[in-house]
Amino acid sequence: MSFYEITGGRPLEGRLAVQGSKNSVLPILAAAILIPGESVIHNCPHLSDVDNTLDILRLLGCQVLRDGTTVRINASHLTRWDIPDRLVREMRGSVVFLGSLLARLGAAQLCYPGGCELGPRPIDLHLSALRALGAEIAEEHGLLHCMGCRPLQGREICLSIPSVGATENAMLAACGCQGKTVITGAAREPEIVDLQDFLRKTGVHITGAGTSRICIQGGVSQDRVEHTVIGDRMAGATYLCAAAAAGGSIELTGLEPEHLACVLAVLEEAGCRITQEKGQITLHSSGQLHGVRPVRTAPYPGFPTDAQAVLMAALAGGEGSTMFVENIFDSRYHHVDELRRMGARIQTDGRVAVVTGAGRLHGADVHGTDLRGAAALVVAALGAKGVSRVSGLAHLERGYDSFGDTLSSLGARIQTL
Ligand code: EPZ
Repeated sequence: MSFYEITGGRPLEGRLAVQGSKNSVLPILAAAILIPGESVIHNCPHLSDVDNTLDILRLLGCQVLRDGTTVRINASHLTRWDIPDRLVREMRGSVVFLGSLLARLGAAQLCYPGGCELGPRPIDLHLSALRALGAEIAEEHGLLHCMGCRPLQGREICLSIPSVGATENAMLAACGCQGKTVITGAAREPEIVDLQDFLRKTGVHITGAGTSRICIQGGVSQDRVEHTVIGDRMAGATYLCAAAAAGGSIELTGLEPEHLACVLAVLEEAGCRITQEKGQITLHSSGQLHGVRPVRTAPYPGFPTDAQAVLMAALAGGEGSTMFVENIFDSRYHHVDELRRMGARIQTDGRVAVVTGAGRLHGADVHGTDLRGAAALVVAALGAKGVSRVSGLAHLERGYDSFGDTLSSLGARIQTL
């Protein structure tokens, strides 16, 4: 099993164009099957989750070509509407294909995506939204058989939780509905706005993304769409926390500071100096962070759950204490035990974790078991004294494009062995 060998304590310096957003490109790729023609997607990152999604598109009958960070998808002739278990289990985000397959073909079949390292990942809100639009969904033997009452009928859908995935699924299915669909209680993440921007280019009338009320008047009228995906705010947060932990000065381009407002505010409170302008964030850090006010994860625009682990890793090597409350997922502290191996002093109780800065962590052999948890171990290793070996790289490859090379380009001493 390959691993990163990281020699910590070296400051990070330099400029980085942040990768395209994983959590934006995945639903946009699923949306490509709405179009009986070609979608050209720019700024598509090289990630295993993207590779899996492109495999699904090919399997459904799409022609898929990739040239660097540009992907061309021709969905003129879809040949099936079922997605094999192995691809769904590989990536739970494939559940958004339910909405786009129902909209385009009136049918979809895939297995339950199941839970993951973050705890149970129910899809009840997805299913109730699709049923509200007229889909008949049979759940048997772990499979979801979805048939649309052709055509699906637009109506008001109310989400009891601002679920990102359920909002996206409802938006995609609504594109195949007659009449108007209104989603209330919608997620407000920037990735939802990016999906709206893509769908508008297909001819669908859609407004309200970024607010909790999204209106969609279905009907794709274009047979060619071109779109550039927004920057990945979670990759951005990761590199910022890495520089905060290791010290140094980095400049990120290709993402919007407002998409990370909560994270930037906490890093400033922890002692970093941050400047921002359109499409650019600069962070300076001494490498010695101090504790901050409680960090409570929340739906956007609150503090993002996907930045919890990497921030915790940066603060663990500083001074002072910080309380975290993980309000989104049931089990998102798997990185804590591994950080403790590096000398971190962290107490957890259910959703609460209290980090007491250890002054400086020390290198250790650690193993990542989920995407952001593995990234947190890399952040900690960059700020630690001595050498660390971080395994679990397959998790990192799901969400970070060329993670090791990118960190090396910023001056980190990191190699894959
Ligand atoms: C998306 O997951 C992201 N993934 C996650 O990023 C992110 O952490 C999450 O949104 C929250 O922001 C992608 O976009 C591919 P949710 P998603 O539905 O859509 C509960 C990463 O690291 N819920 O907003 O699955 C759910 O259990 C990943 O890049 C239901 O109860 O998240 C959770 O507690 C991790 N029923 C909460 O809602 C449902 O039907 C928020 O989940 C759906 C969700």
